[in-house]
Amino acid sequence: MSKTVLITGASSGIGEATGKYFIQKGWNVAATMRTPNKALDWTKTNKVICPQLDVTKPETITSAIHETLEYFGSIDVLINNAGYALMGSVEGVTPEQLHQQFQTNFFGLVSTIQTILPIFRSSGGGTIINVASIGGRIGFPFTSSYHATKWAVEGLSEAMRYELRRFNIRVKIIEPGGIKTNFINHGALWAPHPAYTEMENHVRNFMDMINDSLAKPEGVAKVIYRAANDKSGKLRYSPYGEAIFFLHTILPDQLWRSLVESIMLGKTSSPNQY
Ligand SMILES: NC(=O)c1ccc[n+]([C@@H]2O[C@H](COP(=O)([O-])OP(=O)(O)OC[C@H]3O[C@@H](n4cnc5c(N)ncnc54)[C@H](OP(=O)(O)O)[C@@H]3O)[C@@H](O)[C@H]2O)c1
Repeated sequence: MSKTVLITGASSGIGEATGKYFIQKGWNVAATMRTPNKALDWTKTNKVICPQLDVTKPETITSAIHETLEYFGSIDVLINNAGYALMGSVEGVTPEQLHQQFQTNFFGLVSTIQTILPIFRSSGGGTIINVASIGGRIGFPFTSSYHATKWAVEGLSEAMRYELRRFNIRVKIIEPGGIKTNFINHGALWAPHPAYTEMENHVRNFMDMINDSLAKPEGVAKVIYRAANDKSGKLRYSPYGEAIFFLHTILPDQLWRSLVESIMLGKTSSPNQY
């Protein structure tokens, strides 16, 4: 019998690529979306349903999970992928923007996990895959709000796997590097502040510059699939992030920060100024 995966934020980018990949591999896919788009070709098969699910609306989480159980009979893997980036200085971000960022990237993910856990426990197990980011372990300028949510996802995931192991529920974290999706151009919301305009412009230019050279989401989808089938205790998978983690680990902190500042903020300064 085919296994079933439920994905949040499957309308574009990594979520969509992952849905398509699991279909190719013969899985049933609940490609949940904030605004279900029945026009997407890859969803036009009886192996895919597109329940409406907005992670900030708990009632839609419950209804999407029930719809999936009714249609496919079970859920084996949950992929918490929905998310966006609030960009801007700490000073420029409003409390409402920060609240919304956490509602989507963190509290929405927690609600989805809390809704699926009783189902996984009663069915004898399952796998929870949380899409964090390299930004869940390394901080970059003007991305503090987003980082805070992804660090929260990392901490939650690492802690809860101790609680869930004896229920045969695996936890996996995916930490992609920069990926070419809607994320940078449309999925990123900017909170500008006049005191930081020059640095903000550098970051925007940097993001525009790198966008076309980023990896495609299909590579991340393959890693997510591998994680879904990996029965080992491996927790973290870093598609297109390994090189950055490696550099961050081996470079002295002052040199790392001076590099990030010169590349992203256009400031060249000696590492020992830090
Ligand atoms: N692209 C990167 O460089 C990168 C790197 C590291 C981690 N990530 C993470 O990867 C995940 C997917 O991002 P992506 O790159 O594929 O960007 P994307 O193409 O913008 O996809 C984001 C998805 O999240 C959905 N979403 C946003 N708010 C939602 C909500 N309240 N409820 C349900 N769905 C919601 C979007 O739905 P709508 O279509 O309705 O907006 C969309 O389907 C995110 O968690 C992101 O943080 C991305």
